[in-house]
Amino acid sequence: MRNKNFYIGNTIFKNPVFLASGPAGYGIEYRGLINLEKLGAVVTKTISLMPKEGNPGTRLQETEAGLLNSVGLENVGARCFFEDKLPELLNAGAKPVVSLACEGKEEYLSLLEITSKQKKVEAVELNLSCPNVEEGGMAVGTDPKLLRWYITKAKLILGNITVLAKLTPNVENISSLAVVSERAGADGITAINTLLGMDINLESGGPVFDRVVAGLSGPAIMPVALRVVWEIAQVVRIPVIGVGGISSVEDSAKFFAAGAAAVQIGTAIFYDPGLPERIVDSLEV
Ligand SMILES: Cc1cc2nc3c(=O)[nH]c(=O)nc-3n(C[C@H](O)[C@H](O)[C@H](O)COP(=O)(O)O)c2cc1C
Repeated sequence: MRNKNFYIGNTIFKNPVFLASGPAGYGIEYRGLINLEKLGAVVTKTISLMPKEGNPGTRLQETEAGLLNSVGLENVGARCFFEDKLPELLNAGAKPVVSLACEGKEEYLSLLEITSKQKKVEAVELNLSCPNVEEGGMAVGTDPKLLRWYITKAKLILGNITVLAKLTPNVENISSLAVVSERAGADGITAINTLLGMDINLESGGPVFDRVVAGLSGPAIMPVALRVVWEIAQVVRIPVIGVGGISSVEDSAKFFAAGAAAVQIGTAIFYDPGLPERIVDSLEV
């Protein structure tokens, strides 16, 4: 029986079933298909300070047991998000967790300042898989020093707002980065973002994606996500939120058994939007 109020940081959630950042857009796109009010939270698509067009070329490609995406952080920008999208999501009765891009340091600090002024924002998730534009393009979350900097600044500027650190699995030792995140003040760890992959178009002989490399999600990555959640849960005290390939109630149960305090559903909502609510129902018994 996990369907009771629980805290992450200062934020109270009615249950531990969240929509993952990205596939559900700003959440409101799924209003007609998912009863958002019934979920613990909706993590919104990552927003950056300014609007972004995202990547050119192919953006989505199915694989045998998953999905490759190269969306490239397309988003409406902080101003439009806070003025238009967030109020709509709140009107739909959802509990938003706002996903923030961790891009250039200056833009990031401005994004934090704007976010800190939003009275309705209770929790954010830092997307630490964003490319580190100042130092060569590797994800921010691959470098412990940078990770510490991004999380410390968020805690400092956002005050009472709960801060989740969403880690990239494309590193050698994710547990040590989870410990760095906890020490920097993160209130929870979200794991995992997509795994790096690619595909080839056999007709052209070239890569399917303009950026060559794309992010793999869906059932194919679930064993990796489960292992990562288990590893992180051994070394931190803060809640771990498991995400990666969950496509059934049983999958979610495995994440809870591995030590997750909550789960997020991403790719599966493209073909089974009823899944998050079924997971909530499964927790009643
Ligand atoms: C189309 C698509 C867009 C995504 N966009 C974001 C995003 O904006 N921010 C983010 O932190 N993660 C993003 N993700 C990653 C998901 O939140 C999640 O971490 C990952 O897909 C693994 O979970 P899943 O297998 O349940 O989808 C995206 C994933 C997909 C498939």
